[in-house]
Amino acid sequence: MSDETIGICVIGAGRAGLIHARNFARVVPGAGLRAMVDPQAEALAAAGRELGVERLYADYRQALEDREVRAVVVVTPTKFHRDIVVAAARAGKHILCEKPMAMTVEECQAMNRAVEEHGVVLQLGFMRRFDAGFQAAREAIERGDIGPVVQVKSLTHGPSVPQPWMYDLKASNGPLAEVNSHDIDTLRWYTGSDFQEVYAVAGNYRCPEARESFPDFYDNVSLLARFRNGMQGFIGGAVAVGYGYDSRVEVLGTKGVLFVGRQEHHATMTCTPDGRLVRPFVKSWRNLFMEAYAEEDREFARAVAEQRQARVTGRDGMMAVQVVEAGNRSIREGRPISLPAI
Ligand SMILES: NC(=O)c1ccc[n+]([C@@H]2O[C@H](COP(=O)([O-])OP(=O)(O)OC[C@H]3O[C@@H](n4cnc5c(N)ncnc54)[C@H](O)[C@@H]3O)[C@@H](O)[C@H]2O)c1
Repeated sequence: MSDETIGICVIGAGRAGLIHARNFARVVPGAGLRAMVDPQAEALAAAGRELGVERLYADYRQALEDREVRAVVVVTPTKFHRDIVVAAARAGKHILCEKPMAMTVEECQAMNRAVEEHGVVLQLGFMRRFDAGFQAAREAIERGDIGPVVQVKSLTHGPSVPQPWMYDLKASNGPLAEVNSHDIDTLRWYTGSDFQEVYAVAGNYRCPEARESFPDFYDNVSLLARFRNGMQGFIGGAVAVGYGYDSRVEVLGTKGVLFVGRQEHHATMTCTPDGRLVRPFVKSWRNLFMEAYAEEDREFARAVAEQRQARVTGRDGMMAVQVVEAGNRSIREGRPISLPAI
């Protein structure tokens, strides 16, 4: 690895961590995977073997002392993001942090302060901003193809039954955080504005095993929003839908409409003997956004090399967490919640 190459350490060798680790090992010019961290020894060793990484740490603090590590990718469960990001900034490491940024706005503010004080780059993991289709829609909005935007609707449905830790809303902030953070960011990006007021309703329709121990857990949520610039928004969220990974956006303007997102896993269509056309549904976010994750990682390397602000910032992360907190409060209290300007 040359002196110019940015040494990357991925903290968290789970589902999303391995996506970033493979990208930095293989497809990000100017950066290289140098180290990995995970307290689970088996997951860590397997990642090290697959990617040819020798510097494997059980504790992120060891990685922060490693001089060959110039930047970290924080891909642990969300409740650890604040401590790791603040410590990384203090150690002078640049940071790519997965969504949701943290559990509360206060945590995000502490992270943003540490990043500013220590002059490091912080990029948030809203990879949909790097997806070609999502970007094309944003360009169409800017060109005025559909006239001024009136309403943005975005939904994400995930196929799997949640991990048991997600049933506890105090530990996970629920599907609004883990699933819909992306939709929240897309609405802010497409409206060019911040949320002013939200009203959310939610319920548990598909996860009966969680009902007794976690009566607050919801697997389905509808969130209605008003933006500071007068636009309207809607977010649908669902987990355990089974049929596939479903991510769709509709942007309605005064003169037209944009539809974003695809549902086909690949381009093949089968014509069956009984006269049906069958196309496979997208199975996972990993397939759907594979190129977007790679481009997100390339953009992080460019921001670090050029020592400039990332395209998706700590403020973007914090504003999404503000909406998660307000949405969960609206569900609990059964009323619309106004969001203070921050
Ligand atoms: N951008 C996306 O589309 C996307 C997709 C999936 C997950 N995520 C986010 O990525 C984060 C991780 O999610 P996941 O699905 O990969 O979870 P996961 O459970 O698959 O993996 C998390 C890994 O972190 C490890 N870990 C736990 N504590 C740690 C610590 N203190 N230091 C280092 N490693 C630690 C665990 O052992 C595990 O291997 C979450 O914040 C999640 O919301 C983002």
